[in-house]
Amino acid sequence: MADHRLRLGVNIDHVATVRNARGGAVPDPVRAAVLAQEAGADGITAHLREDRRHIVDADIDALMAQLSVPLNFEMAATEEMQKIALRHKPHAVCIVPEKREERTTEGGLEVAREENKLAHYIAPLREAGCRVSIFIAADQKQIEAAHRIGAEVIELHTGAYCDAHAEGDFATRDRELEALREMSAFAHSLGLEVHAGHGLTYDTVQPIAAFPEVRELNIGHFLIGEAIFAGLTPAIQEMRRLMDDARI
Ligand code: PXP
Repeated sequence: MADHRLRLGVNIDHVATVRNARGGAVPDPVRAAVLAQEAGADGITAHLREDRRHIVDADIDALMAQLSVPLNFEMAATEEMQKIALRHKPHAVCIVPEKREERTTEGGLEVAREENKLAHYIAPLREAGCRVSIFIAADQKQIEAAHRIGAEVIELHTGAYCDAHAEGDFATRDRELEALREMSAFAHSLGLEVHAGHGLTYDTVQPIAAFPEVRELNIGHFLIGEAIFAGLTPAIQEMRRLMDDARI
């Protein structure tokens, strides 16, 4: 059995996507976050994008005020986002790459190429007491760079593994899974806390949850979609059950 209980961070961005489709106040992502917390989420994740396409600044204010579980604040490494994070001082800050034209976070952060810049960027966040996490591909070079810049956590991008599964390309899926397995162990051996996420579903969560080094999964889109059919609480509870079963 893996030594630590695996935490589930529920990403509520896409409740805001639906709200924003009509420009009004419902459905309220903060209400979803509070419900997720009651359903057993260990944390809430929200990505404030530069274009505010889903989560907006007022949502972050409300999440900080109303949550009792930690907020994992996802953001690009921009000056604007650094100011917002330093004002709120969330439990965790996850630095993600962000491109205006992408539909979702497509790849991991290029840490190795931007090492000095990122080291300076995250220093004040760490001093403010935020746990700094870096969202990266399962790539040894990127993990080593994340370690050198002083990140405490890395979140491994599971998107390629999940996409290959959805496309029925099981050879690629298994190769991606193997890379994630090896790089979880490698990051852990450097003393980094390992998280994972992106694209995870009931079908893909268990092999990742079974990695003993992984401490937290961040899951959003699938859970919010599943909530349409089953309700948010049962969807979270089922994900939690699958995660726990994989851990035994
Ligand atoms: N982790 C990170 C760093 C992300 O950017 C996202 C997507 O916003 C997720 C996890 C969750 O991905 P999904 O919504 O596909 O479950």
